[in-house]
Amino acid sequence: MSMPESRYVAVLLLMTLALPAAAAGGKIAGPNLGQVLPNTEAALPYPSIYPDGRGLPAGHGNAVDGRKVYDAQCTACHGSAGRGGSGGQLISHGPLTGPEPDPAVDNYWPFATTLFDFTRRAMPMTAPGTLSNDEVYAVTAYLLNLSGVIGENDDINAETLPKIRMPNRDGFVWIDVPKSPR
Ligand code: HEC
Repeated sequence: MSMPESRYVAVLLLMTLALPAAAAGGKIAGPNLGQVLPNTEAALPYPSIYPDGRGLPAGHGNAVDGRKVYDAQCTACHGSAGRGGSGGQLISHGPLTGPEPDPAVDNYWPFATTLFDFTRRAMPMTAPGTLSNDEVYAVTAYLLNLSGVIGENDDINAETLPKIRMPNRDGFVWIDVPKSPR
């Protein structure tokens, strides 16, 4: 057996020895730094929202109402209609495939549910958590309408939001996450 081959065998052997311990719920050895965090998922004010809609709360809104929320709470940092401002533009100036790609929420993000999740947990930046679920649905609808993804009277809720197909939905290479059926 040549040298490289015996090295592979040694690595494989180590893996076989380590796996049963982990599978049996054994503790994986770490550097022993810090402390183990409790499982706080259930206690979080905003549990994660998944692309298939899991985690979305009750409530709804459309772009017409969302525009009012946006103009009052978001324009200062994201500019009028999602363009400009110190917080960065949310709406791009053209498709990703254009000569000067301009990635933004509308043409880059693969899932509309992320827009709800991010806005609810982090925006407006100076007062996150102050918007009601209806306001978050509405402002999400407004940004999706500016993107041309939905109409201005389309009702956005836990049922309809996950069904929206973002323009760049197929522009990602799925490496370690199973592809969602949508
Ligand atoms: C005080 C300034 C401020 C206000 C007001 C504000 N934002 Fe933001 N927003 C930011 C900044 C700064 C970032 C970039 C944060 C980061 O990258 O972590 C951001 C990022 C975002 C993003 C992610 C953009 C991306 O490309 O990653 C979204 C979506 C967003 N804001 C939506 C909103 C909405 C909707 C409102 C109104 C309800 C709002 N923001 C109000 C400052 C603000």
